[in-house]
Amino acid sequence: MNEALSNIYDRSSVRRYKAEKVPEEDIREILKAGFHAANGMNRQALEFVVVENTGQIKRYNRKAIVLFADMARAAGHPNPMAERMAGDPDADIFYGAPTLIFVFADPSAVTPVEDGSLAVGNMMLAAHSMRYGTCFIGFAAGLGQDPEFRKECGVPDDRRYVACMILGRPEGISEKHPRGDVKILNWTK
Ligand SMILES: Cc1cc2nc3c(=O)[nH]c(=O)nc-3n(C[C@H](O)[C@H](O)[C@H](O)COP(=O)(O)O)c2cc1C
Repeated sequence: MNEALSNIYDRSSVRRYKAEKVPEEDIREILKAGFHAANGMNRQALEFVVVENTGQIKRYNRKAIVLFADMARAAGHPNPMAERMAGDPDADIFYGAPTLIFVFADPSAVTPVEDGSLAVGNMMLAAHSMRYGTCFIGFAAGLGQDPEFRKECGVPDDRRYVACMILGRPEGISEKHPRGDVKILNWTK
């Protein structure tokens, strides 16, 4: 098997991190890998926010949990996990990771969600190849749309929030989530 395939099959989401900071040049390399993903009409509309400040990460964690629980309730689908975390002061949706990467799209994006998702995929694989761990954090969706968070992070009002990914050196061995057989509905030859 070639190295690119091994890297794909070997990656898994990491939910325990060492506190050590990720060197800036490595973060920049990982962002670059994200920016090099395919994107609609090559508009290159993605923009990134990196948060490493531990005080900020702690604050955003609490805010994200509350906002996510509120959002789910407002949509009429209370989320049991979010409700549980809202009542647990130690809950940590960022799993102690030293780096948060938020992905936004500017208004020129024709396919913001697709662009952002592909960027996160690239960043996960790039990070894994550099022995870093990552995890997509869907629980940060409310945070990404929060005016106070956006103002603090310098995100203009017209930017669309797309994704949040955490990054850091894994602590211990991460649990693997094996895949079943590929589901092919039809294959016409
Ligand atoms: C859109 C999206 C949102 C996710 N949100 C979360 C999250 O909020 N918290 C979390 O621990 N994992 C989250 N994950 C990670 C998935 O649970 C994980 O990718 C899945 O269980 C497969 O495991 P693997 O990544 O280890 O292969 C998310 C993944 C995706 C693609």
